[in-house]
Order: sequence, then structure tokens, then C-alpha cells
Amino acid sequence: MNEFNYDKIKADIDRDKIVDQMQHTLSDFRYTHCLRVEKVSRGLAAEYGGDVERAGLAGLLHDYAKERSDEEFISVIKNKHLNPELLKYNNAIWHGVVGAEIVKDELGIYDEDVLNAIRRHTVGSTNMTQVDKCVFVGDFIEPKRDFPGINEARDYAKKSLNSAVAFELKHSLAHLIDKNREIYPETFISYNYWITKGEL
Ligand SMILES: [Fe+2]
Ligand SMILES: [Fe+2]
Repeated sequence: MNEFNYDKIKADIDRDKIVDQMQHTLSDFRYTHCLRVEKVSRGLAAEYGGDVERAGLAGLLHDYAKERSDEEFISVIKNKHLNPELLKYNNAIWHGVVGAEIVKDELGIYDEDVLNAIRRHTVGSTNMTQVDKCVFVGDFIEPKRDFPGINEARDYAKKSLNSAVAFELKHSLAHLIDKNREIYPETFISYNYWITKGEL
């Protein structure tokens, strides 16, 4: 994996050091998931003519903060004066939207394209860039994912990024509703937007 480097984004990003830190601070499942999402995100970006480095770095870091405590997320939301509405939600939302702030502060990565892809990887956005879409879809279809609908998701990813984004939003909403879980409003907004663009 050390053929990947992110010098183009920022000269002193040491991927080996970041990967080593993630290996020692995340569970093995989460760490290897991040490496798989990095690879799939890079592949999607290459296939669709996107920014391979930004998609790869955001893919690697998308779940960087996923295993932090609720207390840590709450303190970041308060200290950074993020939208107080966020306090009504939980790790599922925080690890992307608030996790990007933790990536920024701990790793010194200020590239907004990378940070936005991390922010948007769970809820999507109407403004999703190519990089955002590669990470959003890469997270959903990485090789170890196995759920009813995974083959369809992989087929859509071969057809177009927009169709894969639309399918993922539809699938995630249906899953949350089925489990009686609350829906972050941005997820609805993303669904309404992409369902008309995705050619499902
Ligand atoms: Fe995530
Ligand atoms: Fe993930």
C-alpha cells in the first residue's frame, strides 16, 4: 500500500505515519475498513476521471474519528461553535461532520475538498463533488461489505457515480426507517436531490 502518497495535497503529509497511528488507535476492523475504502475511492476516482489523491486521502480518513467518545464529539461541537442542532444526534452523524474537525486539528489537513468528503460521507449533500461521491460510494461498496442490495450497489457504481449515490441514499434511508432510527435532515435533502439525478 505504500505506493500511495499525498504530497500533492500537502507536502508534509506522511501517509505511513497516519496509517501507523490509525492501526494503533482504531479497532482492527475499522482500520482495515479505512484502508479498503481508500483503495476503492482511489479506483472510483480513476475510473470517473476524478482527483485520485483527494478521494484516496478522504477515503483513508473518513472513519478516523468513528471510535471517539460521545464526550469528545460534544466538546468539539461546543468548543468550535458548530451547529448546536448537531447535539441532538449521535456518533453516526458526528463521526463525519465533527470527525472532519478532529482530522483537521490532529493531522493538520486543511484541504476543504478532503474535509468535505469526510463531513459528507454519512449524510451526503446536494453539493457533492466528484471526490465526495467517490468516498460516499467507496464506503458503501468496499470489498468486505455484505448486505442485501450490495450487488445492486456495485452494479450502479459501474454504471455511474450519480446512480450509486442515489441508490445508497435510498438504501440508507430505508434501513434507518426500518430500524426506527432518527434521520438527520441533510440525509432527506440529499435523497430528494439525488433520487432525481441518479437514473435508478
Ligand atoms: Fe463512517
Ligand atoms: Fe466507513
